Amino acid sequence: MTAKEQIDKNKLPKHLAVIMDGNGRWAKQKGMFRSMGHENGTKAVREIVEACAEINIPYLTLYAFSTENWSRPKLEVELLMKLLVSSLKKEIKTLHDNNIKLNAIGNLEALPKKAQRELKDVIDKTKDNSRMTLTLALSYGSREEIIKTIKEISHKVKNNLISPENIDETVINNHLYTQNLPDVDLLIRTSGEQRISNFLLWQIAYAELYFTETLWPDYRKNHLFEAILNYQNRERRFGKTSEQLK
Ligand code: IPE
Ligand code: IPE
Ligand code: MG
Repeated sequence: MTAKEQIDKNKLPKHLAVIMDGNGRWAKQKGMFRSMGHENGTKAVREIVEACAEINIPYLTLYAFSTENWSRPKLEVELLMKLLVSSLKKEIKTLHDNNIKLNAIGNLEALPKKAQRELKDVIDKTKDNSRMTLTLALSYGSREEIIKTIKEISHKVKNNLISPENIDETVINNHLYTQNLPDVDLLIRTSGEQRISNFLLWQIAYAELYFTETLWPDYRKNHLFEAILNYQNRERRFGKTSEQLK
């Protein structure tokens, strides 16, 4: 049986998040410019979006550009923004034909105007799609998101719209960029790095973490199916004992 056939459709992660890492190293290994790594990374994005749609994962979130990535060389940042615009233009039809809804999280106003317009266009066009929600984390940083959340809630407290006693997980969830998304069940990071790099700190509180040496441009459907199988063989206890789950 192939990895895909072994997947238990009743035990799928509802929300899969991916830190797509290793584009630069992939290019360097081949004696190419980093930009080639990013360009080839878009193929892996297409594969993984398709794979998730095939097995019916309802929420997929991809870390595409972090708040920290703004510190990269200007040319690399420009290239990544151009790649974002061209990928959106290229993929809009496929997304729409496959009933996929595009969503974006992060400080989107920091993106170049052109990227903002293109993003808004695809989000608008796909807003009624229901098979899967694909969220791109762009200019995203979890700490920035938490600060934004605290500011918004503080203003509401100040204006007597909410009392401090009523602040709970739901209130916080409702102010995060991810307000319409469930908690992350499985977080995958490629390229061998074992860190979170300021991604969804609140939302991964109980996520299963999966690290793989594969560099992002080499990541294919079968790698994802293997990761899902690994996830399905874990026992998620959420603080309880194993016996309680039986
Ligand atoms: C991930 O690959 C893409 C982004 C962070 C935008 P990297 O560009 O981080 O690749 P490495 O880590 O340098 O190999
Ligand atoms: C994290 O990767 C950000 C994205 C994948 C978009 P980085 O390559 O920027 O993270 P660090 O620098 O290794 O922590
Ligand atoms: Mg990296």
